[in-house]
Amino acid sequence: MILAFYSANRGLGAWEPALRQAMPEVELRAAPDLGDLEEIEAALVWRPPPGWLAALPNLKLILSQGAGVDHILTDPLRPRHVPIVRLVDPYMTRSMVEYVTFQVLRLHLKEPEFRRQQQDHVWRQLVPPSARDRRIGILGLGELGAACAAALVALGFDVAGWSRSPKQLPCVTSFAGEAAFDAFLARTDILVCLIPLTAATRGILGRATFDRLPRGASVINAGRGGHLAEADLLAALASGQIAEAVLDVFETEPLPADHAFWDHPRIVVTPHVAALTNPVTAAEAIAANLRRLAAGEDFPDRIDPDAGY
Ligand SMILES: NC(=O)c1ccc[n+]([C@@H]2O[C@H](COP(=O)([O-])OP(=O)(O)OC[C@H]3O[C@@H](n4cnc5c(N)ncnc54)[C@H](OP(=O)(O)O)[C@@H]3O)[C@@H](O)[C@H]2O)c1
Repeated sequence: MILAFYSANRGLGAWEPALRQAMPEVELRAAPDLGDLEEIEAALVWRPPPGWLAALPNLKLILSQGAGVDHILTDPLRPRHVPIVRLVDPYMTRSMVEYVTFQVLRLHLKEPEFRRQQQDHVWRQLVPPSARDRRIGILGLGELGAACAAALVALGFDVAGWSRSPKQLPCVTSFAGEAAFDAFLARTDILVCLIPLTAATRGILGRATFDRLPRGASVINAGRGGHLAEADLLAALASGQIAEAVLDVFETEPLPADHAFWDHPRIVVTPHVAALTNPVTAAEAIAANLRRLAAGEDFPDRIDPDAGY
């Protein structure tokens, strides 16, 4: 089997030894040196240019280099009959759990306020509520959201999640669908975005959502930049409706050097690192999917293109 590789962000680099070790039987070809395109049966991609996938006439499987597939579905020319499989990797899930719990604890323990007090040489004891009185709301209770919810429950927080279908997760209050969105927001002090970017979720972190949160709530966006209406966030921070924001993902990445977010005293910027793909661990999941393809089996992490995730 021949696997084609394309990444808009990085070269083959660390992928090559990882993939060769995990699947020695597969021949790896990195763009632009793809040889005879008719021989290629599978493609491992991150943000392929429009038409790149369509140029592979015998493609049978599209593998995403990340958990999200929005970077593939935006290609209007992608071959519709070819299954798309996203990356689900326990290492990546652990990374997201670390990122989200760290940022929630920072906000919960008023670390941003203590940083500002220190800059002003102010000694003032601010006391956070107990964790059980801090209401965390997670947008998306899938692979990443459910794992973050479990970790936050273990820390004693009052955790709820919002998803399309209802969930039964230990000690997590489940809100499902549009009808439950307002009630979910009304009980959320720290909102964590971990939903996929789809037509239904683009701009979900915007004024209508911020206005429905309790005044002084905080927002953590580890989903995609397209979830956030940037001007709405700046307005909500200016009015005090939102107290603090932690942003890992942006509409334009890298975040432009002159962007207002960089110097904002109530915004923390991280450079899309919440759960980076680790080629060594990802290669195991990719090899398993290529073996499924060879055996004619279905793929557990196949996405539904109509739903967009
Ligand atoms: N910042 C980073 O470094 C980083 C790293 C990895 C991933 N991500 C982002 O995290 C996202 C989530 O990853 P995942 O692996 O957890 O995805 P997943 O397992 O597919 O879970 C997605 C969750 O979102 C819910 N959802 C989707 N559309 C919805 C809608 N319109 N309304 C309400 N709920 C909706 C789903 O509901 P149902 O369960 O009912 O279907 C599901 O619970 C990825 O798509 C990616 O964009 C970011």
